[in-house]
Amino acid sequence: MKAWRDRIASRATMVGVIGQGYVGLPLALVFHQAGFRVLGFDIDPVKVAALSRGESIIQHIGSERVATAIASGKYNVTADFDRLRECDAIFICVPTPLGAHREPDNSYIHDTARAIASRLRPGQMVVLESTTYPGTTEQEVLPILEQSGLSCPGDFLLAFLPRARGPRPQGLQHQDHSQAGGRREPGLHGGGRRVVRGLPRARHPSQPRARRGVGQAAGEHLPLGEHRFGERAEDDPRPHGHRRLGSCPRRRHQALLNSRMPRYVIEKLTLALNGDRKAINGSRVLVLGLAYKADVDDDRESPSYEILELLLEAGAQIDYCDPWFPKTHRTRKHDLGLRSVPCDAATFSQYDALVVSTAHDVFRKAELYRGTRLVVDTRNLMAPLFPDGGGPRVVKA
Ligand SMILES: NC(=O)c1ccc[n+]([C@@H]2O[C@H](COP(=O)([O-])OP(=O)(O)OC[C@H]3O[C@@H](n4cnc5c(N)ncnc54)[C@H](O)[C@@H]3O)[C@@H](O)[C@H]2O)c1
Repeated sequence: MKAWRDRIASRATMVGVIGQGYVGLPLALVFHQAGFRVLGFDIDPVKVAALSRGESIIQHIGSERVATAIASGKYNVTADFDRLRECDAIFICVPTPLGAHREPDNSYIHDTARAIASRLRPGQMVVLESTTYPGTTEQEVLPILEQSGLSCPGDFLLAFLPRARGPRPQGLQHQDHSQAGGRREPGLHGGGRRVVRGLPRARHPSQPRARRGVGQAAGEHLPLGEHRFGERAEDDPRPHGHRRLGSCPRRRHQALLNSRMPRYVIEKLTLALNGDRKAINGSRVLVLGLAYKADVDDDRESPSYEILELLLEAGAQIDYCDPWFPKTHRTRKHDLGLRSVPCDAATFSQYDALVVSTAHDVFRKAELYRGTRLVVDTRNLMAPLFPDGGGPRVVKA
């Protein structure tokens, strides 16, 4: 343990981040900024090549950040998994897409665990960062890693670091592990060490919720310890499936709310239009925001698609506005083939109603709504724009 502490303090630790996507790339850059040498791994050769040229593959992460990291020589991106041997700490940030029954598909995690197992060496730490259901670390990842012949915690360390809403220095939120599975390991307390601002501390499932705010206030932490942590589904606004929802009534309730949200929005809109003696059938409705959360170019599992689809089914003439997405993507369930309309008052005024689905900053301007009649607001975006009243009729959903 002391050896780990010393290596971290002196930044001798080599950090490996597997998966250079929305989660893995910022994580790699945070480690790099904190002075560590970082190896980013990805199976996508196009991504590896672009990043190696210093080009960002994510809109809200500027290429300058990537270029600076690459130019320093301390951040490299590779598809050569043999280089995992060079890493002291390995973070798994691969996708866990939802299957047809909204169950996370852990096959990427399994593939990655196998790739690590065949190169695992004593002294390494493996941290699972992908969103998953409780039990994955101990029951799925650990057995694969132990096929290497090494054991945990004697030879290597294994932890679960729940992904916060974005590995960024401000606005971090810790996950609530109080309901999560996993078992208590001796010497847990003090398992987290503050090393890098911008990272949440790995926490044990039984750690009381009251401590949740500590990391938020004090900065963030690199997990370090001879503990296997339990896990929970990501605290993500998307309607994540959760294989063991039954074990957590609060999350089950939240998932249910999320999946019902689009229908609730349509009900609210129908009633509001009704008040104006209008039917949803034939009305022109503009949905603001396609991204699943504000100011990101990620629309996977976004409820906006469901809202648009339901509006279409109800006979509305639909459009959407989202400067982050010039056109809709084809998703597992939807193929709307729409293009974003301009984000201006003249455009907005042409619709019978607007539905705020994502609270992008660009929508936070009162003048945009000067010709708007009705807004169904799922994000409470409108109220702060018109603190003294005025503005369009707003229905909260
Ligand atoms: N994007 C978010 O805001 C967000 C929020 C919360 C949780 N998460 C979770 O974080 C995890 C990663 O999500 P993401 O959004 O970064 O996904 P992503 O699709 O943006 O990136 C994943 C990357 O992993 C690579 N990859 C796939 N299989 C691989 C393998 N076997 N080895 C190496 N690389 C591989 C892909 O090429 C891709 O570049 C998921 O579990 C997701 O649910 C994401």
